Amino acid sequence: MHQILVQLHEDHRNIRRLLELILISPEAAADRRYMQQGADVMRYMTGYPDQFHHPREDLMFDRLLERDAASCDVIGRLREEHILLGQEGLALREVFDEHLAADRMPDDELHGLARGYVQLQTGHMVREEHAVFANARLVLTAEDWAAIDTLLATRPDPVFGLQVQHGFRGLREFLMKSGSG
Ligand SMILES: [Fe+2]
Ligand SMILES: [Fe+2]
Repeated sequence: MHQILVQLHEDHRNIRRLLELILISPEAAADRRYMQQGADVMRYMTGYPDQFHHPREDLMFDRLLERDAASCDVIGRLREEHILLGQEGLALREVFDEHLAADRMPDDELHGLARGYVQLQTGHMVREEHAVFANARLVLTAEDWAAIDTLLATRPDPVFGLQVQHGFRGLREFLMKSGSG
């Protein structure tokens, strides 16, 4: 499997771990750590997946469309979801930040937004894995991957990379301690 595809799968695995932290029961969310973690997770989601993971996939979609016109419908949907996820991610990040700044407990609005965001992300990733990743592996050539590679802006993952970015150390430590980092 090409390294780009390996990284995309790895990103999905990491995203799923983080989504678990924002989708928890209202009782568990009474833990004060929840709000800080939610704010950290959404800073990550809007910073890394929205800025690097999705653009990387968009480049792969471009190439895939050239090789496999039948992918057109699903790719159209996935592209729209990238835009929607970006918008909803920013909105949820703002709500977590506001709650954190005001030292407010989670409310129905926050839970509803978090649930909707997690559902959209989860469905999106499943669609990509089933309808696109497997196909890309079969259809794209070495030249396609090389072309994607040259167009690609890369950045190390700020939470799961070798160098954990300063503002994400608390989140990384929590993931390590909980056995999922
Ligand atoms: Fe995506
Ligand atoms: Fe993805």
